[in-house]
Amino acid sequence: MKRWPGALIVLVLAALLYWRYAGPTSDPQTPLAQQRADAAALRDPALIARGKYLATVGDCAACHTMLGGTRYAGGRSLATPFGDVPAPNITPDPDTGLGHWSFDDFWQALHDGKGRHGELLYPVFSYTSFTRVTRDDARAIFAYLQSLPPVPQAATPLGLAFPYDVRSGLLAWRALYFKAGEFRPDPARSAEWNRGAYLVQGLGHCNECHAPRNAFGGITQNGRLTGGQIPQLEWYAPDLSTRRGGGLEGWSARDIVDLLQRGQSAKGAAFGPMAEVVYNSTQHMTDTDLQAMAVYLQSLPPRAVAAAPAPLSLAASGGRGEKIYTQHCADCHGTDGNGVAGIYPPLNGNTSVNEPTGINAIRSVLLGGFPPVTAGNPRPYSMPPYAQPLSDDDITAVISYIRRSWSNKASAVSPADVAKLRQAPND
Ligand code: HEC
Ligand code: HEC
Ligand code: HEC
Repeated sequence: MKRWPGALIVLVLAALLYWRYAGPTSDPQTPLAQQRADAAALRDPALIARGKYLATVGDCAACHTMLGGTRYAGGRSLATPFGDVPAPNITPDPDTGLGHWSFDDFWQALHDGKGRHGELLYPVFSYTSFTRVTRDDARAIFAYLQSLPPVPQAATPLGLAFPYDVRSGLLAWRALYFKAGEFRPDPARSAEWNRGAYLVQGLGHCNECHAPRNAFGGITQNGRLTGGQIPQLEWYAPDLSTRRGGGLEGWSARDIVDLLQRGQSAKGAAFGPMAEVVYNSTQHMTDTDLQAMAVYLQSLPPRAVAAAPAPLSLAASGGRGEKIYTQHCADCHGTDGNGVAGIYPPLNGNTSVNEPTGINAIRSVLLGGFPPVTAGNPRPYSMPPYAQPLSDDDITAVISYIRRSWSNKASAVSPADVAKLRQAPND
């Protein structure tokens, strides 16, 4: 009998802990009638339709779908420099998905980056951007996800090693690189600009790729879209400013809308991870939303102009780059580097040719490929891969040549860069 009080304390503590970690995060005081009314409101077809559109803008299916798997049923693992993080099942299956989730649980995930039991989520889930999404839009997305057929599919195990598998370790990361907060419109700007800023910074999560990351995977200049190398993917997502010195220098709003809607514009074509973004997400956006995003991107400040690159000695390569270009490339991209309108992208003034690292041009030439198939460009023209016919030295010469020809003023690349990128994963 003497042991009772101790056991009681343990029990009470256990109950409290259970409440804290396992209990629903929704208000336990919500009367049953209210909960039923909320659930009924979530079945509104107009709300679900809006949620479907917003989930497409957020590209949720891209990560939450396994290759060949059911959409939103999870299973795909996302590579990070620290190991693999699987995207969970977000269909309403009660055991393996979001079946038991309330809207407040969902909001906590999207807005605060926390799971249903308060556990900290890894930022490979783009909540650093999704936190800008309004509660109203989040509710529509939740209504849509809850309307999907439930798919039982258990989670893939976390592929992170100690210490990265300890979620509480994210506390320090979050203190440095995450600030929860809905988008606040700027009253000094037009409604169109604000809509564009909201979409680019929030659901579009453009910044997750188009910004530099440090060794901890943190983005230090949130929202600046100044371009960065995507960890693990070996692609460079360019600076998105259209001003002088910007990565999209000279792009009109029309060019931006074309790229996002058709996968190709008069200034360039989408490839690599951007082709997937266009294919899964942006091609389905309304003209009004695309136009708003273009207006916002056109207002981005120019990035600091990089130091002039060391002049490349074309003589040293014996005109080899020019010779290879004339032989293998000029038929499509033109001796003047201006391509063929609507068919072959120009290389003169091309963002991906001029980006600071040279990665995109090297990988385009190694892999070849075609822009995404879209309603606006259903049968895109393709480029052959040159990994086989051209040696590292040939590719180095031709890329260095196109990066310094016509109006282009980027630095030369080295055979070591080409050799390394031959080994990079192709996705
Ligand atoms: C870039 C990939 C990516 C995108 C885009 C993405 N997610 Fe996720 N999401 C993940 C990963 C990975 C996790 C798991 C994180 C973890 O385990 O800490 C996750 C976790 C979640 C969770 C928590 C689920 C749980 O069981 O705890 C929800 C809810 C969620 N995502 C919803 C969405 C919605 C809604 C969208 C679109 C607006 C979206 N995600 C877009 C990768 C992504
Ligand atoms: C998954 C990573 C990723 C996301 C998310 C992403 N991008 Fe990109 N983007 C890239 C990469 C890589 C490139 C370079 C390849 C290319 O030019 O297509 C690129 C290129 C671009 C280009 C230039 C295309 C060209 O032909 O030079 C534009 C414009 C662009 N992105 C806009 C956006 C916008 C707007 C968003 C948000 C709605 C976005 N991107 C989201 C990876 C991404
Ligand atoms: C048969 C026509 C053809 C030939 C030959 C060709 N290309 Fe391309 N090139 C294309 C097409 C089409 C694209 C768009 C591919 C995409 O979006 O995935 C492209 C894209 C590119 C890009 C990326 C720019 C962008 O905006 O998409 C670079 C860089 C490039 N080519 C360089 C070269 C070089 C260098 C050679 C010669 C070694 C070459 N190409 C030969 C048709 C061609």
